[in-house]
Amino acid sequence: MFTRYFRKVSQNNRSIETALLKNIYFQWSNENRIQIDNAQLAVLETLQISLNNFALYIEYFQKPIFHRIKTQPLKQKSLYIYGDVGRGKSMLMQLFYENCPTHKKKRFHYSQFMSDLHAFSHEYSQLNKAEIITTYAKQLSSEFLLICIDEFYVTDIADAMLLERLFTKLFALNLTIVITSNRHPNDLYQGGILKEQFLIFTQLLQKNTTIIALNSQTDYRLSYLKSAQQVFHYPLGDSSEEFIKTTYEQLTQYAPMKPYSLEVLGRTVFLTSAYQGIALTSFKELCEQPLGSHDYNLIAQHFDIIIMANIPKLSCEKRNESKRFMTLIDALYEHNVKFICSAESPAEELYLEGDGAFEFRRTVSRLIEMQAQKYLDAVHY
Ligand SMILES: Nc1ncnc2c1ncn2[C@@H]1O[C@H](COP(=O)(O)OP(=O)(O)O)[C@@H](O)[C@H]1O
Ligand SMILES: [Mg+2]
Repeated sequence: MFTRYFRKVSQNNRSIETALLKNIYFQWSNENRIQIDNAQLAVLETLQISLNNFALYIEYFQKPIFHRIKTQPLKQKSLYIYGDVGRGKSMLMQLFYENCPTHKKKRFHYSQFMSDLHAFSHEYSQLNKAEIITTYAKQLSSEFLLICIDEFYVTDIADAMLLERLFTKLFALNLTIVITSNRHPNDLYQGGILKEQFLIFTQLLQKNTTIIALNSQTDYRLSYLKSAQQVFHYPLGDSSEEFIKTTYEQLTQYAPMKPYSLEVLGRTVFLTSAYQGIALTSFKELCEQPLGSHDYNLIAQHFDIIIMANIPKLSCEKRNESKRFMTLIDALYEHNVKFICSAESPAEELYLEGDGAFEFRRTVSRLIEMQAQKYLDAVHY
């Protein structure tokens, strides 16, 4: 059934068949899984060239030894795909990955890649740093011809230096690396010590990768939100827990859950997890701590989607918590932050009577507006 996605490329002296990525893409569109996006199609062109070259490279090692003595394998160029969140970088990388004609490949999330590297360094701590990197590079390149690293965001100078040494070896060993990131290599450096060292690393990336911009206008994560049945889930219970968890997973493409802390005015706000503009939190974390409008404004600027679990019914007995919740919603509303939550009751019934109920009506109206299509369409700023 899949044969129509493949073509024999004997006219290019290749015997390994490579998939036509565009055909798969159009097939997805026919199945209504995706919308056609010209910016993504442009990236697919470059990925196709790389895929074809990759097939030639693999083929080289399948040729008889006498042939290989006479010629050199084609040098593989790694890829670095960057663009805003939700543009389809991970999806295109996955498409490339699945269609690479080798089993010697692995896809990592950036945090997993780094934690494997740190674990290896720890295990071989009797060696010096240079030996550790050389050994690890050899190990990776003996196991894999292709590694994909998704959601690359090096900010730590120690990690940048480590990666600079490792990637230098990996590029020399002709391992193909495909990276996705929200930032161009030039923009990875976000200030801090040892700028020169950091720039050595970003220059290495520039020199050894084909840098591809994915300039799509659409944030498809938001399309997911809009197609979701609801963004305000009630009542609380097993199904609301499932709703919160699934939504976070879907929006982040199953990024690992990891506690996140945000420094605001010398204070630290703890969040259940956060990933690329998406925060997972709870009423307890944001409204039962002594936070104020300044903190909420910073949070609203920092994240474009906030998923909040377990909003309880409010009353004048919970005056401080209620006030904070109102301030938080004001800040999110001002910045057009998309708000997804689970609550004990519908917004209209969250604060029914007593002191403060009247004031809360503005929050209710905002919460309702924030569920509307028009609000979900508006851009975060
Ligand atoms: N052209 C498209 N049409 C519909 N949905 C898409 C399209 N491109 C990507 N998506 C979906 O949008 C979401 C975000 O895509 P993703 O690849 O994770 O973006 P990025 O890695 O750039 O943040 C995913 O659920 C993905 O399947
Ligand atoms: Mg991604």
